[in-house]
Amino acid sequence: MATPLATACSDDLAAAYRRLNAAYQQTLRYAEDVRVLYQQLQRGIYQSLLGLANALEAKDVYTRGHSERVGATSRRLAVALGLSTPEVEIVARAGLLHDIGKIGVPESVLRKPGTLSNDEWAQMRRHPLIGAQIVAPFEFFTAGAVVIRHHHERMNGSGYPDGLSGASIPLGARIVAVADVYDALTSDRPYRPAMTAPEARKHLDAAAGDTLDDQVVAAFFALTQHEL
Ligand SMILES: [Fe+2]
Repeated sequence: MATPLATACSDDLAAAYRRLNAAYQQTLRYAEDVRVLYQQLQRGIYQSLLGLANALEAKDVYTRGHSERVGATSRRLAVALGLSTPEVEIVARAGLLHDIGKIGVPESVLRKPGTLSNDEWAQMRRHPLIGAQIVAPFEFFTAGAVVIRHHHERMNGSGYPDGLSGASIPLGARIVAVADVYDALTSDRPYRPAMTAPEARKHLDAAAGDTLDDQVVAAFFALTQHEL
């Protein structure tokens, strides 16, 4: 039989354990609140950036909806290529925001119907760098900034801004590039009408392994074969 002293000690221990456990549970709730708030903050920042990108597109009938489509296709490609869920989110969001740097390119250059001069072309080619700089302050989107910076690199090294080639181009950028090229080809532009889907697929097929990643193009064909 327990002595009175032993019983009192046991009661004290049980009460201390309950207090400790309550404090621990409260800490878990605080941590969850902080996590939810952080996610809301991230979403708010993405929405603001997307609002900027959409405002830019809304002024131009030729590019309206382009970012949304590139974002959606990039997401599907990232899933098909087996990227992790956080990586898929980064690629999808970078796809949405890939051309945000065009905010820094004069409208006279963006909307020019004819061929760009060397100087105008140099201004246009700055948009991946400007885009990466716009999102650079957001530490949670560092990988997305890299995708935005490199979405005009080409597998054969002829792209910009850094002339990267092959596997040195981040996979996310290779994914966005395929989604971007296909959507651009199948959209009207001031200087040419939209290609049909079969024409655009032929173009992608020819570019696979040369300017575009052949595995990403193969994934695109596999994904869209029943949509034509
Ligand atoms: Fe671009």
